Formats: sequence, C-alpha cells, structure tokens
Amino acid sequence: MIRLENVEKTYQSPEHGAFQALAPISLEIEEGDIFGIIGYSGAGKSTLLRIINLLEQPTNGKVIVAGRDLTILSPKALRAARHSIGMIFQQFCLFSNRTVAENVEFALEISGIEKKDRQKRVKELLELVGLQDKSSSYPSKLSGGQKQRVAIARALANRPRILLCDEPTSALDPQTTQSVLSLLQEINRTLQVTIVVVTHEMDVVKQICNKVAVLENGRLVEELSLTHAKGAPASNLGRLLFQPKNEWLLAREVASV
Ligand SMILES: Nc1ncnc2c1ncn2[C@@H]1O[C@H](COP(=O)(O)OP(=O)(O)O)[C@@H](O)[C@H]1O
Ligand SMILES: [Mg+2]
Repeated sequence: MIRLENVEKTYQSPEHGAFQALAPISLEIEEGDIFGIIGYSGAGKSTLLRIINLLEQPTNGKVIVAGRDLTILSPKALRAARHSIGMIFQQFCLFSNRTVAENVEFALEISGIEKKDRQKRVKELLELVGLQDKSSSYPSKLSGGQKQRVAIARALANRPRILLCDEPTSALDPQTTQSVLSLLQEINRTLQVTIVVVTHEMDVVKQICNKVAVLENGRLVEELSLTHAKGAPASNLGRLLFQPKNEWLLAREVASV
C-alpha cells in the first residue's frame, strides 16, 4: 500500500543551515496494517508521516502509494491522489467557525461533491463516529474525544484507503484514548483502511498496531511485528515495548520526551 524508498529529508533554515531530519529510510506498509511509528520527541516521526502524503517533500527518495510514485505527479494529480489519504492530528485542527457537520462537509466541498450527496454522506459519517446528535454544535462545545471523532469523520469523508494519524491521542485522557483507539480499530476492520499512527505512547502501539517502526534521531533503527514477535528487539525503545508500563514511563522521564 505504501512503499518508501530511500526517503531522506534535510531542512534548510537561515539560522541553522542544513539539518538532516531523516537519514535515508526504506519502509513498506501493507494494506490492512495498523502501522506504528514510535520514537522520542524530535526523532523525525511527523516528518516521515507528512512525507507519505507529500505534505512534506522529501529531499530524496520515492514515495509509492498504491503503486504510484507521488513525488513525480503533477500538482493536479497529487491533489487527486491525496483524496485517498486522510489525516488527523494531535490538536484536531477543526474549523472553529464551522459546526460539526460543516467541518465534515468541508472535505466533500473541496472534492466537488454536490450538496445533496454531501449531506447524506455527512450523516453517514457522523453515525460512524457516534456524533449524530452533535451535528449542529461548534467545536468549542465538544470534549477532546469528540473533537477527534469529528476530525476522523472529516478525514474519512472521501473514502480514503489510508489514514495517517499524528499523535492522535496525545491530547486525550486515558479513557477517551481508549474509545478513539477502538474507533480506529473498527475503521481498519470494517472499512479496510490502512492506518499509520505516529506516537510517543507505547500503550497506543501495543494496543492497536500489528507492526511498528522505531525511529531514533532520524534513523529507522528497527521494525517489529507485534503479532509475530521473533527474537528480542535490538533497540531500547523496541525492548521497552515489551516491558511493563512503569519502565516505559521511567525511560520517558529520563529522556524527557
Ligand atoms: N520545518 C522545519 N524546519 C527545520 N527543522 C525542522 C522542521 N520541521 C521539523 N524540524 C526538525 O526535524 C526534527 C524532526 O522533527 P519532527 O519530525 O517534528 O519530529 P517528531 O515528530 O518525532 O517529534 C526535529 O529536530 C525538528 O526540530
Ligand atoms: Mg511530531
């Protein structure tokens, strides 16, 4: 579904000059995966995720999604290809001046769907995420978990085959985190959406991912299967993944994520 070939990112800034955020990375994500990308703050997780839909242009390498290299598409073809890739963020990124229904409808407006069809689809989507009764509310009236559900509905509006999630539960309390994770699992199972989740929360990975890539300082240090674990993980973070939660929390404090 997604193949990254020697993807590399160097940021240029006037103050600091060139900074290599990602060393060449090759990675394959299969259809139906819930694929985790873990690492400490600054490891390059968001950069890698944003490269998958080319929100960030890689300095080098190929980004092959459903058989097509996105890096060589025309702007128009890239916009079309992006319709098959939804994205959600830690801070939800909803439009505060639009109602819940209008937030979801926005994604359909920009893809040119007619009003009547939009309204039908918005209704379906709000049912999917369990927010039918919040249709006319504004985001400021919602809890964090509800906001993330609206963002998920909006991201799924154009029936994408891939959903990219950047720290989707990092702004949520543990209970709400559970309900959002269950929703993501349900979407993966029932709609066959391939999910990529960037997180620094080990629990999230343990709970929903079948595979995980570990990033350290812009390098891919390990790929692990959580369903067919073989041998001991080689990286520190990989090892922590199979240890009790308190040890992970301790390591996090030491590294001050
Ligand atoms: N637009 C940018 N310009 C310069 N440096 C950046 C930019 N975006 C991210 N970085 C740097 O790249 C590194 C990786 O960032 P990021 O991908 O956001 O990491 P993570 O999501 O793992 O916390 C960090 O050191 C960050 O400061
Ligand atoms: Mg990040």
